[in-house]
Amino acid sequence: MCGIVGYIGENPSKEFIIDGLKKLEYRGYDSAGIMLYTDKAYLKKAKGKIYNLENKLSEKKLNNAKIGIGHTRWATHGIPSFSNSHPHKSNSGDLYIVHNGIIENYESIKEILIKKGYKFYSDTDTEVLINLIEEVKKVNKVKLGKALKIALNSVIGAFAIAVFDIKNPHEIVVAKLGSPLAIGIENKNFYIGSDPSPFLNFTKRCLYLNDNEMAILSMKKGLILRNFITDSVINQKVENLKFEIEQVEKGGYKHFMLKEIFEQPKNIIDAIRGRILDDYKIKFSSIESHIDKFKNANRLIFISCGTSWHASLLGEYYFEELARIPAGVEYASEFRYRNPIINENDVIIPVSQSGETADTLAAIKLAKQFNPFLFGICNVVGSSISRETDSGVYIHAGPEIGVASTKAFTCQSLIMLMLSLDIGYRLGKVNDEKYKQIITEIKKLSRYAKKVLEEFDNIKKIAKKYKNAKNFLYLGRGYNFPIALEGALKLKEISYIHAEGYPAAEMKHGPIALIDKNMPVVVIATKKGSYHKIVSNVMEIKARGGKVIAVVTKGDTEIKKIADDIIEIPDVEELVAPIIANIPLQLLSYYIADFKKCEIDQPRNLAKSVTVE
Ligand code: F6R
Repeated sequence: MCGIVGYIGENPSKEFIIDGLKKLEYRGYDSAGIMLYTDKAYLKKAKGKIYNLENKLSEKKLNNAKIGIGHTRWATHGIPSFSNSHPHKSNSGDLYIVHNGIIENYESIKEILIKKGYKFYSDTDTEVLINLIEEVKKVNKVKLGKALKIALNSVIGAFAIAVFDIKNPHEIVVAKLGSPLAIGIENKNFYIGSDPSPFLNFTKRCLYLNDNEMAILSMKKGLILRNFITDSVINQKVENLKFEIEQVEKGGYKHFMLKEIFEQPKNIIDAIRGRILDDYKIKFSSIESHIDKFKNANRLIFISCGTSWHASLLGEYYFEELARIPAGVEYASEFRYRNPIINENDVIIPVSQSGETADTLAAIKLAKQFNPFLFGICNVVGSSISRETDSGVYIHAGPEIGVASTKAFTCQSLIMLMLSLDIGYRLGKVNDEKYKQIITEIKKLSRYAKKVLEEFDNIKKIAKKYKNAKNFLYLGRGYNFPIALEGALKLKEISYIHAEGYPAAEMKHGPIALIDKNMPVVVIATKKGSYHKIVSNVMEIKARGGKVIAVVTKGDTEIKKIADDIIEIPDVEELVAPIIANIPLQLLSYYIADFKKCEIDQPRNLAKSVTVE
């Protein structure tokens, strides 16, 4: 939540910061602001999207600024407004800050500062932090870096910050705890971003700050990295980033979400690459070296949120079926506050696209007290969750920019299937024939995904027909139940239509009361499993006048006769089917939202990575 960008170096900074903020808009878009420094500090802010801010930057002088910090906000403390927008400045007007995160003890600090005569012009925790830094700097008569170090030791919360002092305009100081921060380095130019996408065009050399680290980016002394708790200097581990700028651009598609949906055949290949060997064997080195942890596991506990929770639920089904290990899925936000029973023979599997979700990170920290084996499934390489876990796998979906998760879900689900199959085979729970059969299907998955995407015209027509519905129900059984949940979440997120996902058989225990001619019901009714039970559920809906949109296996005749609209997917193996069946539901949500002219990539009130509780 919230994106920060900054630059100090030899080149003009305005354009870089504005473009960078646009790349980070997925992290929040309630308001935006920038501080540019030339002969003095110029502070500009605007409510809403970045283009509102851009319209305020015509002054010529701003083009010369070689130092600047910028922010795109997802409101936590205080409504989206001009005064709550970042950057915030200190009372003296010397210090400027942009902040992603939350300072939990800001109220007590604010009280102390008010007693000392400080005035506050916003409702934010960030304005408190910058004035605390100012107070520490004044009392201790120290420079910004030192003041920051002292101040950060007295705040509780999460932050990624960039701070600038007009009294020493040769440096920007950044620090991180809990929220992500990346620094791009190219000769004497330092780029700052909540992720590297703002600076990929300029440099691939990137330093990810770890928790409790701060860096002074100095035009005179270069980069100095320190731990702000121990005050020790740290060796810099600069990485060469592998991804390209095209991966974070729209590439001709109307929205990132649409691009990401159509990218899935390629993402599937990337997720599989190097993990299925020519002799039809799965190879995850992280499983090979930790197979005993799974063999001796009491149970597997998936912890995650939102879409990642849905992929985890599918993971539970896969692991129980193929590896025969008891498994359960937990909402990270519940787990962390529930005093859960964990023992050291449990394997905890945090699942996260961003790898930065605050609740999932907090659940990991809680679990660590009991010393279980922590095996992460993440997309973002080097993210906090990937570093907080003992081992794990990356899903290799590439950068996901659209706020609604699509390709990450597909790759998470695929990785769940491959991991459970690998472990099940190693533990002797899956025989050779089944092992080969599923691998053969996984190898065809990319082609299946392509086939489903070719159905887009049909799905678009269905979307047009139902775009004005006020409520939707999504039903699925077995492996398709998580898909019903995910389909409903996608629709409500981007089209603001109320939608509920339900296990199909549970319908008669309540939701059936909702069904009438105005209630479209999306039924995922692929062959095998509980197909015939689902046919009965469809009958029950039709008998009450409901409209049925059914996702069926190609060649289906039974449901075709009774459903109002049909989306066909290829005839695939039962365990692979949910991964494929989800794709048309992504398209259905997308087209409905597009017909309704919704802001698809940046739905209201949402942000891509939820780094606050
Ligand atoms: C839905 C969506 C969210 C995320 C959730 C967890 O489309 O994107 O529900 O899945 O916020 O995020 P990660 O996976 O980054 O931990």
